[in-house]
Amino acid sequence: MTSSAFLTVSELVKRFGEVVAINHVNLEIDPGEFFVLLGPSGCGKTTLLRCIAGLEQPDEGRIVIGDKTVFSSDDDIVLPPGRRNVDMVFQSYALWPHMSTFENIAFGLKLKKMSHAEIKRRVDQVLSDLGMDGLQKRFPFELSGGQQQRVALARLLANQPPVFLMDEPLSNLDARLRLDMRSELKRLHHDAGATTVYVTHDQTEALTMASRVVVMDKGVIQQIAPPEELYATPANLFVAEFIGAPRINLLRAKPFSDATGNRLQVEDFSIPATWLPDREEVIAGVRPENITLHTDEAPDTVQFSVYAVLPAGPEVFVHVVRGDITLVVRMGPGLKLDMDQQVWVDIDASAINYYEVEGGELVAPST
Ligand SMILES: Nc1ncnc2c1ncn2[C@@H]1O[C@H](COP(=O)(O)OP(=O)(O)OP(=O)(O)O)[C@@H](O)[C@H]1O
Ligand SMILES: [Mg+2]
Repeated sequence: MTSSAFLTVSELVKRFGEVVAINHVNLEIDPGEFFVLLGPSGCGKTTLLRCIAGLEQPDEGRIVIGDKTVFSSDDDIVLPPGRRNVDMVFQSYALWPHMSTFENIAFGLKLKKMSHAEIKRRVDQVLSDLGMDGLQKRFPFELSGGQQQRVALARLLANQPPVFLMDEPLSNLDARLRLDMRSELKRLHHDAGATTVYVTHDQTEALTMASRVVVMDKGVIQQIAPPEELYATPANLFVAEFIGAPRINLLRAKPFSDATGNRLQVEDFSIPATWLPDREEVIAGVRPENITLHTDEAPDTVQFSVYAVLPAGPEVFVHVVRGDITLVVRMGPGLKLDMDQQVWVDIDASAINYYEVEGGELVAPST
């Protein structure tokens, strides 16, 4: 089996009693990737990371890191964490309580028999990168939660392992610091080029940081794709609804064609379609920014009424209703709208994805 991947997970299964935390997971992570595991609480992100790190023993499958098989149920291989060339930052940061910040970070470097001068240089550098200058002598109990988390991160960065495993490393930081740290981490990753597997349940974090994202639900992979693709072409309704805030608009639609071309019948109105899925009925998904509102009637628009206007700084979210249907529209701040005002909705047909009514899988155009 040859592959250019640096980290390969094959048919991995991990059970906790009745719970299947990881259900036949397959991943191929390229060298230098920033690979993000994303999914709701309890979907198996931490468990998968711990299996890779060697802190949890899977029930079935295989894990290869570099050219080393570190776990294989078939071949009875289970390498301990220390022999896997990985280092992990935990969701709940685990610092040595009796060691100062400096000692916590220097610990792994001393084991590598690095010189004092080099250790000091590296520790000071990572602390400075993470905005923690001057805290070298403090003990964990003298640091805030966010500072402790950054020390844990600094320890990982200073160690420079070939694979970085990070489990929600920014979860304890306030909103502003989290934004700064995202950019800092992205930069550090760019400079160090280490293969990174990063866990988060925050979709914005996933979309901003990742080279590729894997979305999981209940231990099962839903989609693996670069952020843009995940957002524009979700593979199923779970991903479509999980990614994007505000949520994607979903409409039950019946495809048909008439003299004007391809159309979708939705309740009592119809809208143009670029292509027709070969189905009696589908769920049509369209993002809030792919809908435009007009204050006057225009060709191929549908009359709705404004239910609520929610300004959010540079953008405005408008909820519009017609019968049982509510659509969320993302607009710029220019257009002033009143509640109950009549508006004409224009849906960008080229941005619509179709999903199966049963099962919610993406319907691909038949060629
Ligand atoms: N040691 C354990 N014993 C029993 N069940 C466990 C254990 N660890 C995890 N689980 C279960 O396995 C599933 C996956 O848990 P995991 O911690 O991997 O989720 P997660 O995606 O990291 O969630 P979160 O976003 O809340 O951290 C959950 O149903 C959890 O309850
Ligand atoms: Mg977790």
